[in-house]
Amino acid sequence: MTIPVDLIIFGARGDLSKRKLFPALYQLDRAGLLDSGVRIAGLAREEISNADFAADVEQILRRAFEKDNFDDATCDRFCRRLHYLNVDFSQPDQFAPIREWLASERVAIYYLATPPSLFGSISEHLKAAGCIAKDSRIVLEKPIGHDLESSRQVNGAVANCFDESNIYRIDHYLGKETVQNLLALRFANRMINSQWDNSCVDHVQITVAETVGIEGRWSYYDNVGQLRDMIQNHVLQLLCMVAMEPPNSLQADEIRAEKVKILRALSPITAATVAEQAVRGQYTAGWVNGVPVVGYMEEEGSERDSSSTETFVALKAHIDNWRWAGVPFYLRTGKRMESKVTEVVITYKDPPHAIFPGAQDVARNRLIIRLQPNEGIQLEMLSKQQSLRERMSLEKRHLNLDFFDSSGESRIADAYERLFLEVIKGDQWLFVSREEIEASWSWCDTLLDAWKERDMKVSRYSAGSWGPSKADMLIEKDQRAWHRSRD
Ligand code: BG6
Repeated sequence: MTIPVDLIIFGARGDLSKRKLFPALYQLDRAGLLDSGVRIAGLAREEISNADFAADVEQILRRAFEKDNFDDATCDRFCRRLHYLNVDFSQPDQFAPIREWLASERVAIYYLATPPSLFGSISEHLKAAGCIAKDSRIVLEKPIGHDLESSRQVNGAVANCFDESNIYRIDHYLGKETVQNLLALRFANRMINSQWDNSCVDHVQITVAETVGIEGRWSYYDNVGQLRDMIQNHVLQLLCMVAMEPPNSLQADEIRAEKVKILRALSPITAATVAEQAVRGQYTAGWVNGVPVVGYMEEEGSERDSSSTETFVALKAHIDNWRWAGVPFYLRTGKRMESKVTEVVITYKDPPHAIFPGAQDVARNRLIIRLQPNEGIQLEMLSKQQSLRERMSLEKRHLNLDFFDSSGESRIADAYERLFLEVIKGDQWLFVSREEIEASWSWCDTLLDAWKERDMKVSRYSAGSWGPSKADMLIEKDQRAWHRSRD
C-alpha cells in the first residue's frame, strides 16, 4: 500500500496517458495498492469540465480492460480521485491553480508526459508558482535530450528546480518484472554468478525486436532513429543489468553506481572501427505475421522522398573491464522484425578439454533469458542420448523456468504499475540517474559521429525479416550466429 500523495499529470490527454498511465493507476487501485487518499490531477490545454475528463478516462479504462473483467466499483472509485486543470504549459501565469489544488501536507508528484522540450520550462514555471516543496518529485519520460549536450541542458534546467534525489527519469524497461528478475537471477544464485565472466562466457547477445513500425510517429522518429530510440536507453539498460558487478545492496545509489561503471567502460565505436562493429538498416515493404505492411518511406506521415534514418541497429560492443575483457556483446534492435522478442542469450565457452567426440557439433551451453513474450529462463545443456547402440553420444536438452507459471499471479504487471509504486514510495532504484544518461549519450554520440564521418548508409531489409544480411555478417565473421528462438 502506498501513502496519500497528489499526482499531477502534465499531458493527461495525450497518448502515453491513455495507453499506459491511467490503465496502470487503475490496476494499482484495483489491486488495493493505491492509498484511498491518493488524488490525481490531469493537466492539458483543452477546455473541458471535470465530469467530461472523468468520463473520458472511464472510456479509456473500459476499452483497455473490456476483456479483463472490467471492475465498475474500482473504476468509480478511481474516477472520483480525478480532477482536471486546464493549463497552457507555456504560460507561467496559468500555474497558480496547480498550487491552489495541492494539499499542503502531502507529497506532490509531477509527472511530465509531455515533449521533453518542455521539461525545463515546466520545472521553472512550477518553481515560480510556488508549487515545489522540499519533497516534491518530478517524473520525466524519455528521451532526455537528443545527444549529450542537449541532455545536459535538460538535466541542468530541471536541476535548477528539483534536487537529483527527487528526479525520477523513466526507462520503462526497468519497470518490467523480467528485467528486475535479472538481478535475482544473477545475485541470488551463486551458481549462476560464479560462471558469469570471461573465463566461462564466450559471448552475450541482447535482442530487442519489434513487429510494429513507427506507429504514426514518422516526423518524430525520422529525427531520432533506432539508436536514440532504443539503444541509448532500453538496450544499454539491459546491458548494464547483465554486465554490472554485484551491487553492495539493493539501494538505488548502489545499483546506479554499478550501472554507470559499465556505461563508462563501454569501448567507443569510432570511425576506425564502425564498419566492423555496427550495422544500420531501414525496412522496406514486406509481411509481418501474415499481413502485408508498407516500407518505412511509405509510412503514414512520411514527408520526404528519401531518408537515411535507421530503423534497425546491430552492434558488436566491448566492455573494457576485468570481468568482460574479450567477451563481445552483440546488440540488435529493429522495427518490423519477424517477431516480437526481447531476450538476452549468454553463450558459454566449450569445456577446456574435449572428451566427447562430436560434442562441438551439438551445441554449447546457453542461458536464454526471455524478457518478452513467454517470459522465462531456459538453460541449454548437453546430455547423454539414451541408447544402447551408441557408446556415448550427446544431445541438447533444456531446463526451463517459466516465469509466469511459477509466479502464482494471474498476470504480469505492466512496467508503469511498478514505476508508479516506486515513485510514490520515493525509491529511485528503477530510475535512471543523470550520470547514467550522460554516460550513455556520450557513448552513443561517438557512434553517431562515426556513422556521419564514414557516411554509413542504411542497408535495406524486408519488413518481417531479421534485419539486413549485413547484421548476420557482423556476427558470422566471428564464427558465431544470432540466436533464433526456435533453434
Ligand atoms: C519506446 C520506444 O520507448 O519503447 C518505442 O520509443 C518502442 O519506439 C517501445 O516501440 C518498445 O517498448 P516495449 O515495452 O513494447 O518493448
